[in-house]
Amino acid sequence: MKMSQKLALILLGAAASALVGTGVIRAADDEVDAATKAKIAQFDKGPATIDVSAYPAGIQKNYAVFREKCTLCHTLARPINSDFALPDEWSRYIKRMMHKPGSMISNTQAKKIYEFLVYDASVRKKALFDEKLAAAAPADKAEAEAKLNELLQAYAQK
Ligand code: HEC
Repeated sequence: MKMSQKLALILLGAAASALVGTGVIRAADDEVDAATKAKIAQFDKGPATIDVSAYPAGIQKNYAVFREKCTLCHTLARPINSDFALPDEWSRYIKRMMHKPGSMISNTQAKKIYEFLVYDASVRKKALFDEKLAAAAPADKAEAEAKLNELLQAYAQK
């Protein structure tokens, strides 16, 4: 192989890995491993509703959006019983769900669902929420607390 051809190949390889890195090409993004599959099957078997009667009115409204949008492809039990709790875990996962073909979730709806899930986790999964907060790096912990407080303030009046 000529030197120039080798160089071209190297450059092509670098460009491809850069694309994978930026997410333009998503490497087998939709595959989940066997352990995750088993875990998800357990979530699906758990309770499929949440008693939101003691939640702020605005959060109760968001529950309706969550119920409508997150049942298109699987049971509501799946997110209800999932072990995601912290704001960043939910925002990352909601984005993942938005990228699934045919999900039809707008940014406004996603925000409402996010706020519902974070509020709900901080109340219904408080032990898990606190455990994850305690294990987080100080900066991440402070950020998660700030996000929760902002949300609590926003919904206190609603
Ligand atoms: C377009 C189809 C689709 C929609 C809509 C959808 N999901 Fe999913 N969801 C999936 C698929 C497929 C999986 C299997 C695991 C994966 O690919 O991440 C999944 C898995 C999950 C899991 C388990 C992930 C794990 O690793 O524990 C949670 C939690 C979840 N979804 C939450 C939601 C929430 C919250 C919404 C609404 C914002 C939603 N899903 C809407 C397709 C969808």
